[in-house]
Amino acid sequence: MIFAANFKTNHTRASTKAYIETLLTKIITKRAEDKVYIFPPATALDQFSGDFILGAQNAYMAQNGAFTGEIGLEQLEEFEIKTILIGHSERREILRETQAFIAEKFAYFQSHGFEIIYCIGEPLEIRQQGQHSVMEYLLSQFEGIDISYEKLIVAYEPIWAIGTGRSATSAEIASTHEALKKTLQKPLLYGGSVKPENSKEIISIRGVDGLLVGSASLDVESFAGMITD
Ligand code: PGA
Repeated sequence: MIFAANFKTNHTRASTKAYIETLLTKIITKRAEDKVYIFPPATALDQFSGDFILGAQNAYMAQNGAFTGEIGLEQLEEFEIKTILIGHSERREILRETQAFIAEKFAYFQSHGFEIIYCIGEPLEIRQQGQHSVMEYLLSQFEGIDISYEKLIVAYEPIWAIGTGRSATSAEIASTHEALKKTLQKPLLYGGSVKPENSKEIISIRGVDGLLVGSASLDVESFAGMITD
């Protein structure tokens, strides 16, 4: 299983360091095959060692240059970061990243050998139209994306379940993952209001290879519990 924590715009440099130190002591007992990822805000990226992978929530597709407010490869290389989140719905919706822009970013980080956690997810009005519309919508989010990329991990995160406290039901997760796995031979994470109360049930669903956790990852006890319980 993969357990990924997306801090979004939460935690500072200092609190991320303390979090990681505590987390490492708590996950000593984790199963050897389980993998833990932490995506802190860019200001908290640093040199850490331990049995987890540090990733970037975002970066611009350039080595360096005049891209005000962005970080590029040079800033990631300083800390040997080789993992990135691309396509998160908050970047698509709030930061207005288009599919074409996302595809360009994907191709850039693919060409630099990054492990990419690529996020897809439908809004509520599409979910309400039924499974056929959901699949059509989700598959359109692979436009321009090389889904055969060896270092690709996909995260299915229904937008209506993100940060709302309302996770998708097990049946919705199961049917969507099963349908996605017909086109996608890659690890497939679920994200959207995953918390200690539902994480066990979700990881037991066939076709779920791990969790991408936002709000409930911010507290170290809560995230560590999902990994070790
Ligand atoms: P959430 O966020 O766990 O707070 O719903 C998940 C995500 O956006 O990755």
